[in-house]
Amino acid sequence: MEISLIQNIVYIFSSILFITGIKMLGKEDTAVKGNFLSAIAMLVAVLVTFINISNPLILLAGIGLGAFIGSLIALKVKMTSIPEMVALFNGFGGLATFLIAWSEFNSTPDNLFQYILVMTTVYVGGITFTGSLVAYAKLSEKIQIAKTSIITKLFTTIFYISLAFLLYSAIVTPLLVINFEFFTVLLVLTLLGGIGFVLPIGGGDMPVVISLLNSLSGIAAAFAGLILLNNVLIVAGSLVGASGLILTIIMAKAMNRSIGNILFVGYASASSSKSSEEQGEVNPINVSDAYLILENASSVLIVPGYGMAVAQAQHVVRELGELLEENGTEVKYGIHPVAGRMPGHMNVLLAEANVSYDVLAEPDDVNPSMDSVDVAVVIGANDVVNPSATEEPGSPIYGMPIIEVHNAKTVFVLKRSMSSGFAGVQNPLFFKQNTRMLFGDAKDSIGGVVSEFKD
Ligand code: TAP
Repeated sequence: MEISLIQNIVYIFSSILFITGIKMLGKEDTAVKGNFLSAIAMLVAVLVTFINISNPLILLAGIGLGAFIGSLIALKVKMTSIPEMVALFNGFGGLATFLIAWSEFNSTPDNLFQYILVMTTVYVGGITFTGSLVAYAKLSEKIQIAKTSIITKLFTTIFYISLAFLLYSAIVTPLLVINFEFFTVLLVLTLLGGIGFVLPIGGGDMPVVISLLNSLSGIAAAFAGLILLNNVLIVAGSLVGASGLILTIIMAKAMNRSIGNILFVGYASASSSKSSEEQGEVNPINVSDAYLILENASSVLIVPGYGMAVAQAQHVVRELGELLEENGTEVKYGIHPVAGRMPGHMNVLLAEANVSYDVLAEPDDVNPSMDSVDVAVVIGANDVVNPSATEEPGSPIYGMPIIEVHNAKTVFVLKRSMSSGFAGVQNPLFFKQNTRMLFGDAKDSIGGVVSEFKD
């Protein structure tokens, strides 16, 4: 049997394994096996690629170096920094395809289809690379730049120019101007354009851009597969591209915005938020007060957010939930789709602490009956419970659906200070009559309440 035939049969086999593995990720009890299966599929595909490579040592050295650096980063990264690491890895996927397409340009594409493919792959890969670097910097709070700043406007303009240049080069001038200078301009515009693609996006819209970059890295890989005529790269890339796109649509729906609006209009830059003084006083409580109120509650809604991840409070939160249930209280968890810093962030943390999926509810399930909840316990969440999203048209998060804890009979907000959330917006919830602030690290505060229950 011919070697390429064997390779293709194995590629089809790994693609089937890969798709089955991804399907298994959809259920809690099969997710770990599904992840393992997909990893095996990738390994098989990589191994079979070696069969007809003339100098496998170079490839092995590349894989070894990449695996070493990747493992080092993965071992060193803090749990709370996983989202920015994912953003960075998306970017490296884009960079790899950018380089593949660039090298193919140098071996002179010989037909129109190949030419357009190379140009488009360079563009999508390059935009994904630099766009992901900006997303990384934004998520890790290394840069904070206003949508209205000159720098943002400059890079955004370059992004539009790069898009126009790509369309011009692919549609208007194919084959006429394949020269090094022309291609170099596209390379530079693409890399700068990626910065302008992500720089103006912020506020609550970052989740959408992260999943879009993830999707773009898959689309770029599928294009690279077409350039190299590698079936497994086409299948794996299309899967990442399609699933990332579905996630992007889900995220945009969660923000109540269209993707076009997020990408091309951006978020509101002026907030009509009142200052702290104008908002009034907050009502602080301590752990013992919180315990006394919770002990008498018949229904409690726990709403976790990014601060639960920072505090690593998920295990004590599960313990509190169990103690409340033993005390006869009905306990539910309200999970906002963009709570935390990555899709499913809260689900992952609560699953790790063995909280059953049955008690997790989405905003649409909990909001209609919020006025019958005795206590809503907000644990390190801020933007996803911010009433400005429904009450202040000038707010950067205006229009984003929230978990309406302010309609519960009593609200506990657990956080360390009065500082704002990811979107940098003041939260009027803290100043409402029915809100009690329990200041401190979420793990310590919940741990304190758990101890009171046990005593
Ligand atoms: P945030 O609005 O970011 O608020 C988190 C709050 O946690 C902060 O106000 C912080 O206040 C508190 N906190 C931090 N460490 C804490 C600790 N150790 N103990 C107690 N509290 C602590 O979180 P959210 O409500 O989950 O909203 C998520 C935001 O991130 C949204 O704007 C969303 O659009 C954005 N985002 C989401 C994603 C995805 S895909 N989920 C991706 C990118 C961006 P203190 O400092 O006062 O403690």
